[in-house]
Amino acid sequence: MKKKLASLLVATMSVGLLAGCGGSSDTAATQAPAAASTEAPAAESAEAATEALTEAAEEAAASGDVITVGFAQVGHESDWRTASTNSVQAALSAENGIDLQFVDCDNDSAAQLDAVRNFIQQGVDYIVIDPIVSTGWDTVLTEADDAGIPVIVIDRTIDDSDKYVSWVGSEFTNEGLAAGEWLKEYAADKGISEINVLVISGTTGSSAQLGRTKGFDQYVESEGWNKLDEQTGDFTQDGGQQVMESYLKSYAGQFNVVVCQNDNEAFGAIDAMDAAGVSYGVGGDVILISFDACKAGLQDVLDGKINADFQCNPLQGPDCLNIIQKLQAGEDVPKQTFMAEPWYVSEDNLTSITYTNNAGEEVTEDLVHVDQSVVDAAY
Ligand code: AHR
Repeated sequence: MKKKLASLLVATMSVGLLAGCGGSSDTAATQAPAAASTEAPAAESAEAATEALTEAAEEAAASGDVITVGFAQVGHESDWRTASTNSVQAALSAENGIDLQFVDCDNDSAAQLDAVRNFIQQGVDYIVIDPIVSTGWDTVLTEADDAGIPVIVIDRTIDDSDKYVSWVGSEFTNEGLAAGEWLKEYAADKGISEINVLVISGTTGSSAQLGRTKGFDQYVESEGWNKLDEQTGDFTQDGGQQVMESYLKSYAGQFNVVVCQNDNEAFGAIDAMDAAGVSYGVGGDVILISFDACKAGLQDVLDGKINADFQCNPLQGPDCLNIIQKLQAGEDVPKQTFMAEPWYVSEDNLTSITYTNNAGEEVTEDLVHVDQSVVDAAY
């Protein structure tokens, strides 16, 4: 760690961690709605962060005294992940005074722990982690804390340690709840009285999988839907295709809803259903629900292949930069920041949904009817 930064960082970490233990951050955690952020939404903070390069960072860049950041990324399993990597690499750039050391952990939790330990040994100034799974973190985060290195968590959550300075990501349970509420209202509107659903879940133990399953299952229970099966496709297209091929053998003619926990799994499920001659999407026999809302996913919504797609926003690079700049300037940072995330639909029969979110608040949120301009603007 650069000497001139060290004392500032120690002081800042103390402030940040104290703030994280206090009422305001806990309030932020429990009160933030699905489509709201404790800070500016990503697009706004992208501009703000890019434009507002702090004096400290400018000075550091000019003097060659760069800030070193280690980023332990999940892997490269999806379109979402590519967008996430690009976003972080664009924001934590040399021109912003940052030397970014990037490790693709290829969805291997042990490799991710090793990567973080390597960053600690190197004495980087900050560590950014997108945790593959939500538990098993306390020991290594304690090591980072002992070394005086602030840890920033993005996207997925760490659920068994609070030894990080700040997290920015998605409210995955709200994504699952929104999908459940949409299906309930869509089925009622279409006169569909029986729901037999197959779920292709994401990486087991990731907070994205846990939250989406938890939220959707609340509706399975309250509505008396029949969940025939849930197997992991590991957030990949191949995984989605393999699980769907297996479902088509085991549950032929028994299901009318498929929930894929990300777009790439949906692409694989679509290939499997096409090969089996099963119709899906608008006017089909199977309602297809997905998460992420990447550009290719929204193209499928526009084409009527995916009925509804619940966005998970991967553009956290600018927020990361903003957090680092604030820490550099000795400012407080929020313990949690929720990304703004809209919900997208293929048909215009429903324009909004009202549901009780994970914070216990009744919220009404718009459904975005996808047209070409929506696809063009997607990540
Ligand atoms: O953690 C975010 C999830 O991980 C996205 O839904 C998925 O596409 C990615 O692989």
